[in-house]
Amino acid sequence: MKLTHTLLLASLLGMVACAGKKPSAETVGEGSLKQAIGDRFLIGTALNTRQSSGRDTAAVRVVKQHFNAIVAENCMKSESLHPEEGRYTFDDADALVRFGEENGMTVTGHCLIWHSQLPKWFAVDQEGKPVTAEVLKARMKEHISTVVGRYKGRIKGWDVVNEAIVEDGSYRKSPFYDILGEEFIPLAFQYAHEADPDAELYYNDYGMDNPGRRDGVVRLVKQLKDRGLRIDAVGMQGHVGMDYPDIKAFETSMMAFVDAGVKVMITELDMSALPTLTRSANVTDRAAFRREMNPYPETLPDSVSQRWNARMREFFDLFVKHSDVVTRVTAWGVSDGDSWKNNFPMPGRHDYPLLFDRQYQPKPFVKEIIEKGL
Ligand code: GLA
Repeated sequence: MKLTHTLLLASLLGMVACAGKKPSAETVGEGSLKQAIGDRFLIGTALNTRQSSGRDTAAVRVVKQHFNAIVAENCMKSESLHPEEGRYTFDDADALVRFGEENGMTVTGHCLIWHSQLPKWFAVDQEGKPVTAEVLKARMKEHISTVVGRYKGRIKGWDVVNEAIVEDGSYRKSPFYDILGEEFIPLAFQYAHEADPDAELYYNDYGMDNPGRRDGVVRLVKQLKDRGLRIDAVGMQGHVGMDYPDIKAFETSMMAFVDAGVKVMITELDMSALPTLTRSANVTDRAAFRREMNPYPETLPDSVSQRWNARMREFFDLFVKHSDVVTRVTAWGVSDGDSWKNNFPMPGRHDYPLLFDRQYQPKPFVKEIIEKGL
């Protein structure tokens, strides 16, 4: 009798404890985005250093439950890894790779050669003048061999060159292009391959729906292949908005890259829910302009949220439709509060671009995918 009472009390206490538990994205058994996507493609996220070091425990729980691939938001860029000639700072990058390994996640390296977030010394001499072609080649080779070599066998693939083609399909005027001409790209791919012959190699860029850039990237892929260099995939950055790009044009580019002989990765996915800022904006009243450009400082209205979710779902449906050639989809951050979009292209905005909200809850379209499948 006594035992029955004790058991009854214990089960009542258990029920109370369960009822008091807040539903959350991290509850085990609730399913997850990676389970719902299955083996169609990897589902990844960029991590900042608070996350890859484990300090941001709320984000880490979401990452472990929902994602199976990671990439460094910043700590593997040359500016972070190689601040002075001959001096590397690997601690954050090491921690990120370890985080991936400990959690069975695929790690992508981002990025080896990029004109931005490039340390000041990289392409100039001590007087600040551009270095010769020979010096720049040697620096690129040393940087790439050191970085790729350090993580040999641990990083599945590298964004070898980032953002080198502009909208008319020509090459971006960057220190690399100015000093080495078009040749800097094949050289970067060659150095990366020599440093880790098993690593996959990618070219990554934004605004890939643009026909001029599409054609330029196709030409580049073919050129690399014709020269017998390894390129596995094109990374199509997914920094999109509510009014751009046209999804059909994005799909046309996906297929053009596939036809050129590579796979496609959707990298850096985030969709701003805020008005698109155009350069031509005529700003006479700055305060009014700021309010207009930051219209949802507290919460996103339902009507906007519904449009946002429907459009993100359309993108996901496109990726699923082409899952035979899409190998990875990576969000550029874990939750809305982390996103660079809150400060770009204008500081101090409150944006809603990611798959999880500021409370780490999945957005409605993510919840729907988890609950009903794709
Ligand atoms: C580009 C880069 C990313 C990141 C974003 C902005 O897309 O490839 O690494 O810097 O800009 O955060």
